[in-house]
Amino acid sequence: MTELKNDRFLRALMRQPVDRTPLWIMRQAGRYLPEYRATRAKAGSFMQLCQNAELACEVTLQPLARFDLDAAILFSDILTVPDAMGLGLGFYEGEGPRFSNPVRTAADIDRLPIPDPEGELKYVMNAVRTIRHELHGRVPLIGFSGSPWTLAAYMVEGEGSREFSKAKAMMFDRPDLMERLLDKLIDSVAAYLNGQIAAGAQAVMIFDTWGGMLSPRDYLRFSLEPMQKIIAKLTREADGRRVPVVVFTKGGGQWLESMADCGADALGIDWTTDLGSARQRVGHKVALQGNMDPNVLYASTERIREEVASVLAAYGHGSGHVFNLGHGIHPGINPEHVSALVNALHELSPAYHANTN
Ligand code: CP3
Repeated sequence: MTELKNDRFLRALMRQPVDRTPLWIMRQAGRYLPEYRATRAKAGSFMQLCQNAELACEVTLQPLARFDLDAAILFSDILTVPDAMGLGLGFYEGEGPRFSNPVRTAADIDRLPIPDPEGELKYVMNAVRTIRHELHGRVPLIGFSGSPWTLAAYMVEGEGSREFSKAKAMMFDRPDLMERLLDKLIDSVAAYLNGQIAAGAQAVMIFDTWGGMLSPRDYLRFSLEPMQKIIAKLTREADGRRVPVVVFTKGGGQWLESMADCGADALGIDWTTDLGSARQRVGHKVALQGNMDPNVLYASTERIREEVASVLAAYGHGSGHVFNLGHGIHPGINPEHVSALVNALHELSPAYHANTN
């Protein structure tokens, strides 16, 4: 195995001392980069890009060529898993994702297979292997999946939505059916993440984009508990090193105490929660990743620098913080504004780690 040259990200996730705060950006490979748009055009479509290991590797590495980031994230999508379960995924211009076979009945759920990571999802595992090889140990590679609740929301709704009314109706009318679906997803996601870890992912992140739309009681039952069951099934060591798990519930700030007990090493935090109070609330249980509002990147480079400073100050002195946005970077962002973020972080964050090494 190639030696890891920059392990700041993995160290911060384990709350070990670092020289500066590590940084990566959700959706760092994406449409805000002209080179991404060019590779995507060459691939033909977003899914063809995901399914071609060489091109998926190319776009994964693009943001690292431009910016001094501390982690790479597999280029793929959370909806590859439902697609492999037979739902027929399509991405439509200006509309987002849609399934041709949404899940609505008990029979639909019982028909769903648990995909074999090296079978229907082999293209993702091949992408992980290719990227890991091409990184040459420069930075760690993050693997990821959607949370069972977030995947179930798309699978029942059949498409993206503000309300997810069909998914919610199933949850309220037939909680038994929703749990049956979530059980299938627990097994599918655990196998998928373990497949990615076996293929070379050095940390994994569970994206629970829609957990924050639930009531506190429903969040614990339908979102957090399934994630906890997945984490209990994950491989936690590879190449003699801990494989940290990050759980990110968008809008989950009010449940941090419960989330800190789910078995994850770190929690993703969006910008609606203050990072300093989040740190106090979770104590030494987990590291935190976040949490600048992605819209800050539309502002001037001076304002970006001030906001980087205030996120760093909110977390405070010491390790256990991975700098990120509170959600994915928007396609309209000027890449030079990302450089301003990176430069500000490199300049300002070492002071928060002085005398702790
Ligand atoms: O972070 C990264 O750089 C890794 C790649 C990644 C993508 N999607 C690439 C992508 C990751 C981690 C995801 C996760 C994902 N996908 C989530 C969870 C995180 C979040 O943003 O809340 C969700 C909910 C999805 C589902 C999804 N995929 C939607 C709703 C869309 C369409 C919205 C849009 O921006 O057009 C996608 C497509 C998608 N996934 C794109 C990218 C770069 C844009 C596709 C394109 O090139 O047209």
